Amino acid sequence: MKSGPSNRRRFLKSGVGLGAALVAGAEAGLAADDAKTPAVQPPAPDDPTKVQGRRASAYGERSRFEGAVRIPQGQSSLTPLQAMTGIITPSSLHFERHHAGVPDIDPRRHRLMIHGMVDRPLVLTMDDLKRYPSVTRIYFMECSGNGFRKRGEGTVQEAHGLTSCAEWTGVNLGLVLREAGVQAGASWIVAEGSDAAKMTRSVPLAKAMNDVLLAYGQNGEAIRPEQGYPVRMFVPGWEGNISVKWVRRIKVVDAPYQTREETSKYTDLMPTGKARQFTFEMDPKSLITFPSAGQKLQGPGFYEISGLAWSGRGAIRRVEVSTDGGRTWKDAALQSPVLPIAYTRFRYAWKWDGSEVVLQSRCTDEHGDTQPPLEALVKARGENWNYHFNAIQSWKVNKDGNVENALA
Ligand code: CO
Repeated sequence: MKSGPSNRRRFLKSGVGLGAALVAGAEAGLAADDAKTPAVQPPAPDDPTKVQGRRASAYGERSRFEGAVRIPQGQSSLTPLQAMTGIITPSSLHFERHHAGVPDIDPRRHRLMIHGMVDRPLVLTMDDLKRYPSVTRIYFMECSGNGFRKRGEGTVQEAHGLTSCAEWTGVNLGLVLREAGVQAGASWIVAEGSDAAKMTRSVPLAKAMNDVLLAYGQNGEAIRPEQGYPVRMFVPGWEGNISVKWVRRIKVVDAPYQTREETSKYTDLMPTGKARQFTFEMDPKSLITFPSAGQKLQGPGFYEISGLAWSGRGAIRRVEVSTDGGRTWKDAALQSPVLPIAYTRFRYAWKWDGSEVVLQSRCTDEHGDTQPPLEALVKARGENWNYHFNAIQSWKVNKDGNVENALA
């Protein structure tokens, strides 16, 4: 941890060719943290009180000494969970997953149509949408495939970075549907995006009427293009893919549409040869983000183990930490706020004696659901599934302080 940031600073402040260097690093599968090439950067003044500072600016930037970036991988990019503080992911570092790139949409020309089994079909401009009462909620989002890409390999970012948590502002979809007048016999909605894939997913009407948002705000400003500008559907607690971005059409129907993303993709093939379909909720999951793979402890002594826990079914009630590979578990402190369907930050005071140890975390949500060991998960689901991975993650701390991914 301590050697990482200074390397990172040197690397990221190289100035010339910064973008190219980042892209090269990403293509080589490296986080900026891992970049080993120190580069010259202009030093900060020895005494900042002796120098007139920079002028105010129109749109903020973080300190040039902060270097954590997403790892772009074609149609997705991974949040640097190891560098996050608190529970909110900055919009600039929120993970991405696109199926046909990020569309360029003029909000003045965007329309959202509500139609199908409704009494009064609606075609809403963004101005129309913003006249409805708004709600603001903090929710995590996790790609259904998170944890599979590099099962047992890499840093917490590389292995688990397809998750983020943000403050979302928008309109309750249920309110708009009630205005449109849902007809008897309707039981699902189908939402369609404005991207070149026309991402389409079916959502049960009960969920749509309950807590689904038409979100146009994220972390206090307009939602970013990568997250669905000017408006996305946000389906709390469910696999990320169903929160259709750039939403342009919601059709009220009486059956799921069996789209590509709910038949050939986002289904879970079981050992019986049958596939689970419409597995929406994201299971309870936790990750120790410090210490985690790629970081290095600077010798024995006190450390605060810190991490994130979440559940698609509600609030986190408990996080336990093991510092002996799962033989014994102790309760971690939950840092407020502890919100339903949001990240909960946990902390655990730990004194490292310098020996080789395996660190693990295990969370339990308000329904008593918890995380299985990997073997139990594989036993239950076989080897052909690609989604809903929530096994306990292990990090091995070696005697030299180097931390590595120890998931079998
Ligand atoms: Co699923």
